[in-house]
Amino acid sequence: MPDITPDLVAQVASRLYNQLPTDQTLPGDSADSRCIAATLLERAQQDTSVAPFGSDMTSAVSGAGEVLERISKVFESIAMVSPGLTTAKPLAHDSLNSLNLSRTASLGQHADTLVRQQTYSDSSKQHGDLKGFVRNIQSFRNQLTGTDHNGAFADPFADLLRDSLPKHGKLSGNPAFNVAAIRGDFPVLHQQVHGKPLVWFDNAATTQKPRQVIDALSRFYEQDNSNIHRGAHTLAARATDAFEGARDTIRNYLNAGSSEEIIFVRGTTEGINLVAHSYGTRFLRPGDEILLSELEHHANIVPWQIVAREHGAVLRVIPVNDNGEINLAEYERLLGPRTRLVALAHANNSLGSVLPIAEMTHLAKRYGAHVLIDGAQSVAHLPVDVQALGIDFFVFSGHKIFGPTGIGAVYGRRELWEELPPWQGGGNMIKDVTFEETIYSDVPAKFEAGTPNIADAHGLGIALEYVTRIGLNNIAAYERRLLEYATEKLQGVNGLRLIGTAREKVAVTSFVLRDKSVPEVGTYLDQHGIAVRAGHHCAQPSLRRFGLEATVRPSFSFYNTFEEIDRLVQALKQLR
Ligand SMILES: Cc1ncc(COP(=O)(O)O)c(C=O)c1O
Repeated sequence: MPDITPDLVAQVASRLYNQLPTDQTLPGDSADSRCIAATLLERAQQDTSVAPFGSDMTSAVSGAGEVLERISKVFESIAMVSPGLTTAKPLAHDSLNSLNLSRTASLGQHADTLVRQQTYSDSSKQHGDLKGFVRNIQSFRNQLTGTDHNGAFADPFADLLRDSLPKHGKLSGNPAFNVAAIRGDFPVLHQQVHGKPLVWFDNAATTQKPRQVIDALSRFYEQDNSNIHRGAHTLAARATDAFEGARDTIRNYLNAGSSEEIIFVRGTTEGINLVAHSYGTRFLRPGDEILLSELEHHANIVPWQIVAREHGAVLRVIPVNDNGEINLAEYERLLGPRTRLVALAHANNSLGSVLPIAEMTHLAKRYGAHVLIDGAQSVAHLPVDVQALGIDFFVFSGHKIFGPTGIGAVYGRRELWEELPPWQGGGNMIKDVTFEETIYSDVPAKFEAGTPNIADAHGLGIALEYVTRIGLNNIAAYERRLLEYATEKLQGVNGLRLIGTAREKVAVTSFVLRDKSVPEVGTYLDQHGIAVRAGHHCAQPSLRRFGLEATVRPSFSFYNTFEEIDRLVQALKQLR
């Protein structure tokens, strides 16, 4: 155990300084201090001088929770012992600021600088300097213990402070998945909403962006921006490389057979519309059947309705059971020689059910049907291998996987892309144009008319690389733990009805609260800094299956924590 030396105090002070909000106020109450402590904890855990996260996630997370609790008490104590800090923040502001420390420098570096530069001499009378800070702690300790320890820092404050610093060993283990380090990559998570630390539980609607993606976008616009393919200059070559490099990354991510099988689109909605229109024109005949599940997002219903009507085809709906799981027997009964295409969500967005797409694809293939998978809710959570699955199309949106909005991709089997007619016409998708006739480019250009979203495609590639570095298996395992924890805790809220209890789920929970309207719950949680979706989630048929028009939907990602779930549950209990 380290002694409470000026060094250690300097480190704590330095960390405190690092966490000062920009308006330079210090923690005034425990909510404030808890927020700062949470950030401090994250930073401390990223610091290589303190322990990395544990291989056993349960003990690591509960260990982190305990540490957090203690740190927040330390901050309250600091606020009590050092009135100078709470009012004029002289140590943090005057002393540290005058040292010209960079907020981004490592904590150890700050502490070293402090220790080097601060005056520890007894003659120092400067209000709020490190010496004064130490003296204040000492006198507080004396008040608490009623004894004078003559300079030796002892219980209870010292123990509190000592125990609060993450220790080697306690959280040791697998540095591959470190939620604190991951959170450090997402700047947007470190803010307050309505005076409370933001809890982002609206991940099924959109995910937050890591620093790596944000920086890649700025760098692209600062250094490489150009239109692609046609330019004979350096920036055109760089921009083309960035764009086509992203296509290669997507190919690897989905294990597609070749990069030409990947078409850039605006997102899942545009991707499904592209396939529906081209596919309808080429393949759909009157009486053909398109099978959809009751769990589909409107993006995987409406385009099929439009093209079915155009071509005289019929939509058939695969029902789900009371848990929100596909009724496979009914699916098999619906399949037949008229089934032309089966369009399924890999994971449903309103309840979180994961569909057995491998099995369903296998069954569809018995009837020669094509299969399109809407991967909007799975791509960031479950590994996807389009070849192993044997599917024909896979569609996803970049913004659901930590990438930019306005960009997504469609994988399609090459033979199918070659057979399908283009959906949109214009520049970039042609080999030759006369007023009489146009010869189209080969895939993928044939389906990418006009200037594409170059920078965001690049950003999407960076996002996929980021996820790959962390590892989808690590992500899926951690999110499963979050989901189990949330499910158990939510069931303890009086009057809460969980909707969607499928055995296989992504980390989405959906519920209604007795005697409280869905918008009322959403607004109340927002007041507590907790962002959830409250509504029909663009999947009305899936909710009507359960007799509902709307639910509250907290959805989790790998940067969420168990403590955040506790905050959600606590807020819901208060609302009851
Ligand atoms: C399952 C599913 N499909 C499709 C979409 C549509 O995605 P986008 O709005 O990015 O086109 C969503 C969005 O929530 C979704 O959850």
